[in-house]
Amino acid sequence: MTERIYNFSAGPAVLPVEVLEKAQSEMLSLGGIGMSVMEISHRSKHFEPILDGAIEGIRELLNVSENYKILFLQGGASLQFSMIPLNFLGKDETADYIVTGAWGKKALKEGKRCGNANMIFSTADSGFKSVPAQDEISFSENAKYVHYTSNETIEGVEFKYDLDGKGAPVVCDASSNILSKPIDVEKHALIYAGAQKNIGPSGVTLVIIRDDLIEQVPANQHSILDYRALAENNSMLNTPNTWGIYIINLVCEHIKGHGGLAEMEKKNEAKAKILYDAIDASDGFYRGHAEKSARSLMNVTFRLPSEELEKQFASKATAQDLDGLKGHRSVGGIRASIYNAFPREGVEVLVAFMKDFAQKNG
Ligand SMILES: Cc1ncc(COP(=O)(O)O)c(C=O)c1O
Repeated sequence: MTERIYNFSAGPAVLPVEVLEKAQSEMLSLGGIGMSVMEISHRSKHFEPILDGAIEGIRELLNVSENYKILFLQGGASLQFSMIPLNFLGKDETADYIVTGAWGKKALKEGKRCGNANMIFSTADSGFKSVPAQDEISFSENAKYVHYTSNETIEGVEFKYDLDGKGAPVVCDASSNILSKPIDVEKHALIYAGAQKNIGPSGVTLVIIRDDLIEQVPANQHSILDYRALAENNSMLNTPNTWGIYIINLVCEHIKGHGGLAEMEKKNEAKAKILYDAIDASDGFYRGHAEKSARSLMNVTFRLPSEELEKQFASKATAQDLDGLKGHRSVGGIRASIYNAFPREGVEVLVAFMKDFAQKNG
């Protein structure tokens, strides 16, 4: 096999090697049936246990109770920016949005097309470096829902608590930190996440939605945007991303076999600490973007003394098989994405590279 390199991509991102190997071993013949998972009907008896396994895997890992449906949809997390207001925000109604980075801003923009999407808190003016504390947030009266982004992938800022909507249904974009730690699903009415960071490949979006929210879907909704129809058809209103769901099932099995989300959290905390400690010990050569209290365990963002040095850093790192470190084009800098499947040794190799680079260029 070709040697694997250290892949710091923000998404699509590194997947567990065991999962890739299992998929490889079943590529030509899934469980001995003589066909790959991509070549069989989504309604076949061979696919049924895969979909059930993925649903049950998510349910078990996140401890999702039976009054929530688990869906695997298409259109990315970006379609959820639209589907949520299209289903739950009428023209004269209000929904609250907490904006702590670029993705939350995009969600707000789509919400505004439907009704009064009210930005109740934003950290834009201070450069998206922090998240609000629960008691800093005041909600609109009668908000249909409150939307927040639990981890902003581009800026690397993360909520360290599950938001309490104080009565309003809480909707969370958890695309980039889902399955990285245990969360309290019960605090949420809807959680969504593009799969391509911690759950699987791109092209499939996990939606966990509470039954009472499904009941609020308007009767005349377009079918493919209708959570009720999608739930009633067990994510198979149209042909789902069968390959994506297959990989999700394998990833869930993998995480369960490695101690579940509590263990993921422990490992993720340890990995992130190595990196943040190196930033803090660099005498200001590396400057972390996020305030310490909001530092993401998944996306570690930092700057160097100049853009020229950042460019050199990223290209020299790539030459040493540390790939994907260039920050998002909208903010620049360096971003090391260290999702569940990213190995601790890769973080250690990066830190050694950082020390060497700082010594030579500081
Ligand atoms: C937090 C967050 N929300 C939404 C998105 C958009 O996801 P998609 O490309 O699946 O539409 C991303 C993509 O990286 C993301 O990180």
